[in-house]
Amino acid sequence: MSTRKRTTTEAPAARIRELLDGWYREHGRHTLPWRLTRDTYAVLVSEVMLQQTQVERVTPRYARWLERWPTAAALAAESPSEVIREWGGLGYNRRALHLHGAARGLASMNGAGRPGIADLRTLPGVGAYTAAAVACFAGEERVAVVDTNIGRVIARAMLGKASGRQVPPRNLTNAAEALLPAARARDHNLALMDLGAMVCVARSPACEACPLARECAWLAAGKPADEAWIATTPPFETTARFARGRIVDALREVRALSEAEVRALLPAGHRVSAAGYLQGLERDGLVEHRDGRWGLAGTFTAG
Ligand code: ADE
Repeated sequence: MSTRKRTTTEAPAARIRELLDGWYREHGRHTLPWRLTRDTYAVLVSEVMLQQTQVERVTPRYARWLERWPTAAALAAESPSEVIREWGGLGYNRRALHLHGAARGLASMNGAGRPGIADLRTLPGVGAYTAAAVACFAGEERVAVVDTNIGRVIARAMLGKASGRQVPPRNLTNAAEALLPAARARDHNLALMDLGAMVCVARSPACEACPLARECAWLAAGKPADEAWIATTPPFETTARFARGRIVDALREVRALSEAEVRALLPAGHRVSAAGYLQGLERDGLVEHRDGRWGLAGTFTAG
């Protein structure tokens, strides 16, 4: 008999896949609206909305968005100012512009068949995660999908670490690829995502309810803490992102504002930076100006 030590990813992988599959059949969020479609554009809309915004908040907005712009071509024909307005409340306004640009790219690919992961990666704002997610969830491509939740499940179960942050990204992807089943990769990735969102959560995971508990390298190691995680995050209200968000929110309500009006609507600590914020927003394509007045992109010009 061989005395060779088993590698972390070898035999437990098959068992983990099987347990995960059984759990997902019973507990998975199968009826989330974006899981009931295979339309590339609709899945892309959902993935961009779901980056940093909760499922409950996304659900009604996803429906409203697709009612207003049912196809990539419909969104592509819209003015950026309207797209930024519709995005209101979803946060991270640049994502609205990226989605608009991505729709233009998708619309121009139409007729060339379903875009694969490499095609998706060329779209504005579509990074490695989003391209993999859309290729897998819409196109059923057999690719590893690694977001924060999935990364945490993989880091814990397979690598014995508290979170994906503690593992070099390449190692995390390798482990995720080693775990991919030969068939039904879509369900497998959705199962990992749901386990990470519902059981294997960041703080106080429900290990007693976890189908992988007996296989989990992190649990076996006594759940070592994430020593790399130090709270260095500044309060959100002090960040430029917050101030820029305030400006875009105001411009959703009125057509245009002067720089002085923009300065006045900002909290005191941000006022000296008003001009800089406007220039930054302009560089990012979110706002434009004419005759000393600022408006959302497309307000004074055709989008
Ligand atoms: N289903 C597919 N992608 C998802 C995501 N990013 N968040 C929640 N559910 C999803």
